[in-house]
Amino acid sequence: MQETIDRQAEVVTVPESAKQGTHCTLADYQAMYQRSIDDSDGFWADQASRLDWFRAPTTIADWSFDPVDIKWFTDGQLNICHNALDRHVAAGKGDVTALIFEPDSPDTPVRKITYAELLAETIKMAGTLKKMGVQKGDRVTIYMPMIPEGAVAMLACARIGAVHSVVFGGFSPDAIAGRIEDCLSDWVICADEGLRGSKRVPLKSNVDEALKKVSARAVLVVRHTGGDVAMTEGRDHWYHELSEGVPDTCECEVMNAEDPLFILYTSGSTGKPKGVVHTIGGYSVWTETTFRYVFDYRPGEVYWCTADIGWVTGHSYIVYGPLQNGATALMFEGVPNYPDHDRFWAVVDKHKVNIFYTAPTAIRALMREGDAHVTKHDLSSLRLLGSVGEPINPEAWRWYHDTVGKGAMPIVDTWWQTETGGIMITTLPGAHDMKPGSAGKPFFGVCPQLVDNDGAVLNGATEGNLCITASWPGQSRTVYGDHERFIQTYFSNYKGKYFTGDGCRRDADDYYWITGRVDDVINVSGHRMGTAEVESALVLHEMVAEAAVVGFPHDIKGQGIYCYVTLNAGIEANDDLAKTLRQWVRTEIGPIATPDHLHFTPGLPKTRSGKIMRRILRKIAENDFGSLGDTSTLADPSLVDGLIEGRLNR
Ligand code: PRX
Repeated sequence: MQETIDRQAEVVTVPESAKQGTHCTLADYQAMYQRSIDDSDGFWADQASRLDWFRAPTTIADWSFDPVDIKWFTDGQLNICHNALDRHVAAGKGDVTALIFEPDSPDTPVRKITYAELLAETIKMAGTLKKMGVQKGDRVTIYMPMIPEGAVAMLACARIGAVHSVVFGGFSPDAIAGRIEDCLSDWVICADEGLRGSKRVPLKSNVDEALKKVSARAVLVVRHTGGDVAMTEGRDHWYHELSEGVPDTCECEVMNAEDPLFILYTSGSTGKPKGVVHTIGGYSVWTETTFRYVFDYRPGEVYWCTADIGWVTGHSYIVYGPLQNGATALMFEGVPNYPDHDRFWAVVDKHKVNIFYTAPTAIRALMREGDAHVTKHDLSSLRLLGSVGEPINPEAWRWYHDTVGKGAMPIVDTWWQTETGGIMITTLPGAHDMKPGSAGKPFFGVCPQLVDNDGAVLNGATEGNLCITASWPGQSRTVYGDHERFIQTYFSNYKGKYFTGDGCRRDADDYYWITGRVDDVINVSGHRMGTAEVESALVLHEMVAEAAVVGFPHDIKGQGIYCYVTLNAGIEANDDLAKTLRQWVRTEIGPIATPDHLHFTPGLPKTRSGKIMRRILRKIAENDFGSLGDTSTLADPSLVDGLIEGRLNR
């Protein structure tokens, strides 16, 4: 076992030139990592001291995993908006560009927004929210396209102590309604429409649909495309109108370190998406520190993360991490293949991007389009590449490294989760050699541990379930409104440890290789999805009796969505119905949940006690019929032959 792991582990060294001027050499990493474990309080107090605190914390780590009670910097007071904006303006950096906005169409003018301007915009939005009636502690739902006002809305909430809940602009009205209802959010901020690859996304009209199911006191609408939208008298307000005359000052609310900053919904093995809660102090320190060391940002550089602010990557590494570091971050409204497959590289060239952070699914899709799209642009500004969201296959890693990076720069493959707030496992650019496909080493303060299914600790080069044994500042504190679910989901499998839901290998050099989810969560194009959510959507359809959803390997998306569907008696399976059901899921959840395969079957393989045998369904979807294991315990073993035949026929 160990030998195989080692032989696979091709080592790629970082060129010496790329190590010049880095924040952290290998010796620094080793010393800092050791201190972060041995003297956690001293280490994190030092990191926290780069931020402004209204009251400096005297308590640093303040947590327990059994019972579960997680706090950091407990008696500190701060405001993340102050650290992201006011602090830099006060330090004379108001003229530095904070955001470069690259619109969907390359022909639409670029917007560059300085720190002083972003502060002024945020104050205006904060004042408008107050005028609308939003108060400290209120939950505000944000449903925005990738435009600067999306970041402004988040920062404005943070400024006045409101808790933002950003809902990805690709989600359906039902998904918005569910999220509004779950966190009892009275307020919504949206745009009239979004733009993606020249297509209009009907954001306001989706909000209108959602608000037929749940209520909100007010909707603030940012004009973006100028498209026609309906405004409900007394409830809906245009931002450009309501913001007229708001004061040009708005002090940052003094917040306690453990006050909530945001809620972000994410999928799990069971039930509805969970509202993961992050609190201000720990999240501020974690995103500031990880951005600083992982991306090794240097003043004057242009940093671009291609994520959407609707996901945690956008929260931590488009908005809070870069801005707290005073960086210049690029925000891109569009998609990688519009107007052509070279758009990413055209944007890198146009804005002389130095640091580029994207997802393996995008890399694979662009790799397929051929090298010419890359080589026709001048990418010499690039210095550092990053990957996030799913395991990167070595072939895609190679292409990213050789063709995009010209073999001349480090790649940071960053493993983390919505719940971790920021990056947990990665190589550091000036410190570590790289191994294609491996995330690398634990970040400061991160204590990974591999355990078997019974919880026995596995040492050395091995493979198992990935747990984290000690808290870190950026850790999620609870599930909104359901602390018991938080404990059940993350701390009940292995008592006293945070369980990530991921499988992982560790090689003889202590490099970590994430192998993917070991629960009923799938990762489709870097989007995390609960198979249970897709199943619930399918069975809502009147013709569907039962559904079981599993992931299967997909060349571009990493994993695709494979749905086994049993229809109600008397309903005939055909292509039209498959199309209808696909559309149904899109409408219920959103386009990211569109099934790749619908496999009609007269029944699902179940144990005699009625439990669906997902392991068998997964193997069949993977075309792996040789290792189905023991099927004799099934209530109806003959079903399996029919399922295999059905799989072979598609
Ligand atoms: O399975 C892991 C995968 O994405 C999951 C977290 O998804 P989400 O909360 O949506 O956050 C995505 C962005 C941080 C993880 O449990 N994952 C994330 N990054 C990597 C990864 N798998 C392998 N390598 C990565 N670099």
